[in-house]
Amino acid sequence: MSKRYHIVTYGCQMNVHESEKLAGILRAHGYTEESASPEEADIVVFNTCCIRENAENHAMGNIGALKKVKRARPAMLIAVGGCMTQQEGAAQRLRKKFPFIDIVFGTHNLEEFGDLLARKAAQKKALVAVPERESAVREEDISYRTSYPNAWVNIMYGCNNFCSYCIVPYVRGRERSRSPEAIVREVRGLLAEGYREITLLGQNVNSYAPECGMRFPQLLRKICEGQGKFRLRFMTSNPKDFGEELIDTVAELPQVCKLIHLPVQAGSDRILKLMNRKYTAEEYLKKLESLRKKVPGCEVTSDIMVGFPTETEEEFEQTLSLVKRADLAAAFTFVYSPRSGTKAAAMSGQIPEEVKKERIMRLVELVNAQTREKSAKYLGKTVEILCEDHDEKRGLYLGRDEYGRMGYFPSGDNCIGQFVQMKVTDASGISLYGERADAAGEEHK
Ligand code: SAH
Ligand code: SF4
Ligand code: F3S
Repeated sequence: MSKRYHIVTYGCQMNVHESEKLAGILRAHGYTEESASPEEADIVVFNTCCIRENAENHAMGNIGALKKVKRARPAMLIAVGGCMTQQEGAAQRLRKKFPFIDIVFGTHNLEEFGDLLARKAAQKKALVAVPERESAVREEDISYRTSYPNAWVNIMYGCNNFCSYCIVPYVRGRERSRSPEAIVREVRGLLAEGYREITLLGQNVNSYAPECGMRFPQLLRKICEGQGKFRLRFMTSNPKDFGEELIDTVAELPQVCKLIHLPVQAGSDRILKLMNRKYTAEEYLKKLESLRKKVPGCEVTSDIMVGFPTETEEEFEQTLSLVKRADLAAAFTFVYSPRSGTKAAAMSGQIPEEVKKERIMRLVELVNAQTREKSAKYLGKTVEILCEDHDEKRGLYLGRDEYGRMGYFPSGDNCIGQFVQMKVTDASGISLYGERADAAGEEHK
């Protein structure tokens, strides 16, 4: 009988893609069916995140909720891995709090999860396997993908930047790049299978890849060489390394989406320095200026944090002002969360929760207003949507435009995986609504 698995994923795209790898491994080990809920699974895997405290709390809450299920069905396996378990002492703390967990693994041995399953089968007691050091880069793709027509592709792992607030370098290890050959092979394979949007993943893609004798812009060129139409995205670029050569490459390659995610974090130079970001607000804006000059129509999104230790009201207002001056299309906004072991967590001058809350509300309000303003400009325009799904309830197809906006439209034929021209008839919210403006749409009318 086929066994059922359920994976619960927290955190960034890196983790979303790593859950696809876990699914690939589970499928190769007899867990051939995905279950809709953890309650009916034969194995539940938690792929955790620890970037902020609430990410950890979420995972803890959901793991705790399985206690009863495990008591009723002791044969069900519970495995916990990802960034949270890779923190120092975390595996022991987890086991103590939740003794019913069967397997604890880390980010460094995720791809050996199949071996861990076999080892656990041979022993009764719980298996705790969190290696201290990162393993060599695995080149082959083992993913079971469910995001057609979009695909994630790792280009590098780890981070060497040690921004003072960030736990990632501690739980993901030092930077390691995949070989250009393996990356190009994987992307070509995906395109041949019909995938139409590829997102390259790394904590700092601009650091690709001294050990391979290649830089990131060259990698982009190599990927696009001789290829037809598809969309190429990448994340994340650290502004400190975002240079003219990359801007020129974005301008040159039609496949690269004209939407760049460039996390600025804050608008005050004093705070940026304390964050160890290695650029100033002016330098950031200069890079955007050059980007917009060389790549007409290019949009920028960002990550922004409020409440970093010692941040004053005035410095927070500099962040608001930067959001306006940068004309950001959208931004992910975060409340600073102290992470044990990082420099910033040990700093004096931590900001009280109510001040952080008040600041994030003001920031979110501003960001949303800017995003809505940009949305309104879409009305009456025709945009190209890569159709990715069908919403049964609404009877509409949906997908994103080059700038990541979600668009909904009716269609007579199943156009999932196709580029569709959509005339926007409603742009009042964050999503766009419209009708097909291509030949298939005409037939439908
Ligand atoms: N490598 C990426 C960021 C990955 S983490 C980069 O350098 O841009 C994604 C975002 O989480 C960061 O950009 C930052 O805004 C936020 N973040 C990281 N650590 C945080 C913390 N301790 N508290 C709040 N937000 C944090
Ligand atoms: Fe964290 Fe900075 Fe590395 Fe991004 S670049 S993962 S924010 S340490
Ligand atoms: Fe990503 Fe969270 Fe780890 S943001 S890298 S899953 S700490």
